[in-house]
Amino acid sequence: MAYVLQITLVLCWSLAAAFAAPDDGSQSVTNIFAPLSTPAEAINEISLLVLLICAGIFLVVGGLLAYTIIRFRRRPADSGREPPQVYGSSQIELAWTVVPILIVFVLILVTARTIYDVQGAAPPADALNVTVVGHQWWWEIRYPELGIVTANELHVSVSESSRPRPTFLKLESADVAHSFWVPQLAGKTDLIPNRTNRMWIEPKQPGTYLGNCAEYCGTQHAHMLLRVIVHPPGEFEQWVAAQRQPPVEDPQARVGREVFFSTSCVNCHTINGTPARGTFGPDLTHLMSRDTLASGTAPNTPDTLRAWIRDPQTLKEGSLMPNMQLTDAELGHIVTYLLSLK
Ligand code: CUA
Repeated sequence: MAYVLQITLVLCWSLAAAFAAPDDGSQSVTNIFAPLSTPAEAINEISLLVLLICAGIFLVVGGLLAYTIIRFRRRPADSGREPPQVYGSSQIELAWTVVPILIVFVLILVTARTIYDVQGAAPPADALNVTVVGHQWWWEIRYPELGIVTANELHVSVSESSRPRPTFLKLESADVAHSFWVPQLAGKTDLIPNRTNRMWIEPKQPGTYLGNCAEYCGTQHAHMLLRVIVHPPGEFEQWVAAQRQPPVEDPQARVGREVFFSTSCVNCHTINGTPARGTFGPDLTHLMSRDTLASGTAPNTPDTLRAWIRDPQTLKEGSLMPNMQLTDAELGHIVTYLLSLK
């Protein structure tokens, strides 16, 4: 029965995932059966094997059940007497004990091998190291060796057979348990307070891969979306160079800058090279280089940015960013300044 439920659930889930694909031109189908990264491929292989074995068991059990129901159904000519009762058959009991033990044993062995292959992989010398910190409800993304801090969008380089470039992730949490999950790239790994978990990805095709937090972490768990942007060779270095630039000083945004620094925005956000050094909210140094706002809640456009700052609670109820009660003029200036942070 458990097998039947398992198969049905997995099939329903993958169908739902295929149909719920967002239509924004990105790598849209977040489907575990379409892996594009080494750990995800290993997991896909083993899940196909498990599904195959479970489907075999389902067919045998379901087939025997259907045969028995039809072959031994009640017929008008039945005498109404009970059939002979048979108790105990060592052969049958032995068969239904030994066969499942063997099946489980095979599954344990292949699972252990896959876990060992994925978790035991040592980072090569030129692996990219990234620290991901889960927050309610966004992702802090740090590149300690490159001096880059960003949010919600993890940029990595594609890994080619001629030049493998896996990305090794250190996963931490600033508050409650979260889970990092990009189905096409790797399995889920939890981000747990006061603990560092590790995982790695090795995307083999450039593109944007969608993921989400996979551990219920409060009101806006569903709006804790992730994007992994996989760059073709060379392009990742350009992104790194752009992110390492100091923030642009646009003279047109001077007033906005002053208004921004007179509010308590600076207590929660960092903008490199300025007095804004808060770490509670996302780093804004290159805010406008990101595709989405509020961890994938909305596209990052001037209109949504304005709506978000006017009242974060309308766009993302429960968000820890407060409504700053800005006047229309202040709001306009701050948006102008933020739009200059490319
Ligand atoms: Cu973070 Cu769910």
